[in-house]
Amino acid sequence: MRIAIDGPAGAGKSTVAKILAQKLGYTYLDTGAMYRAVTVLLLKEGLSFTDEEKIKKLLQVMDLKIIPEKDGQKIYLNGQDITEVIRTPRVSELVAKVSALPVVREHLTKLQREYVTRGEIIADGRDMGTVVMPEAEVKIFLTASPEERARRRYQELKAKGFAVSYEEVLKEVLKRDEVDTTRKVSPLKQAPDAILVDTTGLSIEQVVDTLLRIIRGKRNVL
Ligand code: DC
Repeated sequence: MRIAIDGPAGAGKSTVAKILAQKLGYTYLDTGAMYRAVTVLLLKEGLSFTDEEKIKKLLQVMDLKIIPEKDGQKIYLNGQDITEVIRTPRVSELVAKVSALPVVREHLTKLQREYVTRGEIIADGRDMGTVVMPEAEVKIFLTASPEERARRRYQELKAKGFAVSYEEVLKEVLKRDEVDTTRKVSPLKQAPDAILVDTTGLSIEQVVDTLLRIIRGKRNVL
């Protein structure tokens, strides 16, 4: 079975998807990490985000490897482990711009489609249910209020030692929502057949339980 989880930043997609993948014995694919990897590549090469031709050439020779692990995935760019680098605030700040580029979306969508044909998979992102695997048997649209999502992100950054304020984080969350939902190619939107799950006020365990119930319900009718 294929499980697609989409939704805005901070809704808890990757945390929950990783746990579900472990419980179900599925492969987990974090597609946001792939957009982050391309952002790292463009920064390394010092390329302007508007130079579509050069970006296209670079993507054609890019060697992006995603290695599923027990508690997530490792990601290698041209032989280098960039699993940690893709989570830095600099990359988070620029990735929405990079993921709005048609040339980047086209390339990564192709790679993701190849990847998800490999079998039992749980993939998270913004366009899993709408573009990458519209045929997924289970589609979840995970969301939470912007304030709750900012609170979670703020706690996460603080725990990592980054000096940020809650207000700054909330502003960043709202800006990212705006860019993700209004971009021309594959904007963030709920697929008509996706089930909406609002995680505001819910613990991770409660969200996992809710999704497991949905997945098991689907399994029973298939
Ligand atoms: O989930 P994340 O924060 O790691 O995603 C990083 C960025 O990539 C975010 O701005 C949305 C974008 N993204 C996308 O456009 N399509 C996807 N399938 C996954 C992520």
